[in-house]
Amino acid sequence: MDDRYLLEVNGLTTTFQSRDHTFNATDGISFAIRKGETLGIVGESGCGKSVTSLSIMGLIKSPGKITKGEIKFKGRDLLKVSKRELRVLRGNEIAMIFQEPMTSLNPVYTIGNQIGEALKIHKKASGKALKARVIELLQMVGIPRAEEIAGDYPHQLSGGMRQRVMIAMAMACQPELMIADEPTTALDVTIQAQILQLMKDLQKQNNMSMMLITHDLAVVSEVCDHVIVMYAGKIVEQGLVRDILDSPRHPYTQGLLNSLPKSAGSERRLNYIPGYVPPPSQWGQGCRFVDRCPHAMDKCREQLPPLFPIDEAGRAAACWLVEKGGQALVGSSIG
Ligand SMILES: Nc1ncnc2c1ncn2[C@@H]1O[C@H](COP(=O)(O)OP(=O)(O)OP(=O)(O)O)[C@@H](O)[C@H]1O
Ligand SMILES: [Mg+2]
Repeated sequence: MDDRYLLEVNGLTTTFQSRDHTFNATDGISFAIRKGETLGIVGESGCGKSVTSLSIMGLIKSPGKITKGEIKFKGRDLLKVSKRELRVLRGNEIAMIFQEPMTSLNPVYTIGNQIGEALKIHKKASGKALKARVIELLQMVGIPRAEEIAGDYPHQLSGGMRQRVMIAMAMACQPELMIADEPTTALDVTIQAQILQLMKDLQKQNNMSMMLITHDLAVVSEVCDHVIVMYAGKIVEQGLVRDILDSPRHPYTQGLLNSLPKSAGSERRLNYIPGYVPPPSQWGQGCRFVDRCPHAMDKCREQLPPLFPIDEAGRAAACWLVEKGGQALVGSSIG
């Protein structure tokens, strides 16, 4: 394995089966995350972002199933380890923050009890040391009057405070990889900025790697080093955030960037991408963005474009316009 990478995902295919059809919610996607680096995953609703993170966490439930690919964490394929080993990794070395804190906080336990639970299980902490560590974690995520709040129940806290508690829980065992699925979407803008800053600071202090899922390119530009852009189960563009924001190559990425609010002083008109992400039942054999693409050609309806490499730094885009006689990138990694 390449030990620059903490996580390597190769050809991940997660398949759902319903009565009338079968589809791949992630369709052969590949990416990698270095130690201490933040990767953003961006795309509109239904593109497969959450399925990607749930696949890594081993949380895909029937009728969903990972049907192809590997997920290597520190060189070990998580798809081949036992359920017990995966439970040890989860929470301890890989932690996840979900979009809606109330679904992952238990309403009948105090904040302190819930943070303490992970420490008891994974770190065998107890008594005074456990209590002190819980308070320390609450202070670390900027919760005032930590001792008092530790005795509160989730419903007694504001949305922003609950999200801080979720971060404290995720940080409890000092994970090497943090997966955050839309961690700030439910919060108002000022609180959003504070939480993102907190996550950035904690990541630096702990040299943690992070996978941040969002539909918001502005968030990506604030926080991430690399980004992958997903569309209908596929990666359509990947590379360094600054390259992709400066000169997006895929028409979908260009559309996402165009729909960002412009900076103060410029015209404040939003350009939404017309149309919608096609549901799997409408995926044709060609490019899945074709019906919304201002540059669509006949070839785009007929053949699905592979990821074409653009530079040595791992930048790539899946668009026939980008094809320059370059080889399609197979099992690519960012890096
Ligand atoms: N349990 C499930 N059963 C069937 N289909 C599912 C299931 N979970 C997700 N899907 C489908 O997989 C596709 C990807 O869903 P996913 O939740 O990953 O999207 P997302 O990019 O996270 O969207 P959002 O921004 O709304 O969170 C969608 O078409 C969705 O309907
Ligand atoms: Mg999601």
